[in-house]
Amino acid sequence: MDTPSIDIQNIRAHYGNTYLLEENLPSTNPFTLFDIWFREVASETGLTPEEISAVCVSTVGKDLRPSSRMILLKDYTPTGFSFCTNFISRKGNQLEENPNAAMLFYWPKVNRQVRVEGVVEKLPDEKAVDFWNQRPLASRISSKLSVQSEVVPDRQYLETKRMELTELAEREGSYAITKLESWGGYHLVPKYFEFWQGQSDRLHDRIVFERDVDVWLLKRLSP
Ligand SMILES: Cc1cc2nc3c(=O)[nH]c(=O)nc-3n(C[C@H](O)[C@H](O)[C@H](O)COP(=O)(O)O)c2cc1C
Repeated sequence: MDTPSIDIQNIRAHYGNTYLLEENLPSTNPFTLFDIWFREVASETGLTPEEISAVCVSTVGKDLRPSSRMILLKDYTPTGFSFCTNFISRKGNQLEENPNAAMLFYWPKVNRQVRVEGVVEKLPDEKAVDFWNQRPLASRISSKLSVQSEVVPDRQYLETKRMELTELAEREGSYAITKLESWGGYHLVPKYFEFWQGQSDRLHDRIVFERDVDVWLLKRLSP
């Protein structure tokens, strides 16, 4: 491999100087603080079609080898963070073996990172059906034909399956593309939040909330 022509070690964004100070926190409830940050990111990104709901989810199965992938957050509530996937997949198998998971949001426009760690529960199937029905037909077809994370011979194999399901939807209507039993939602119930506000001088702010039974303990971590 040739030496990269990009000077990687000197890629350095300017983070600004918006401090995250304990005395100015808009809330000492981490769910409320997350909601405030998410709304601020949404208003900052405005109409640009950025996927601010894209979040990295990390899981570890019984082989203790962590793995990470992006997903799109479907919802957050005062109890946790929901996403949809195929339960029969690498992440699904790992969560079956070990329900502990971590989520990582990064919003470069506002120089913020949020880490969330906790335990996942499966969402009720009715909720998954609601999410399924809100998805565009093409997405439902792709999810229905996919045995997620399995090896397939080639792209054509998937295209053929897609054509078959597209024809079924044309013949019988889009509601013929019913949800797979194995497609559904996970709800991550947090035990730990970390709100990170980047500073240009790299003396970043890190405010952590850790759940102790039913109270949230707040701490500041060194950057
Ligand atoms: C921005 C983005 C959003 C994604 N959203 C989802 C999602 O909501 N659900 C999902 O199962 N996979 C989603 N994926 C694909 C996953 O990253 C991953 O490839 C897939 O879930 C299989 O992961 P696994 O083999 O670890 O189970 C998304 C990928 C990207 C880049």
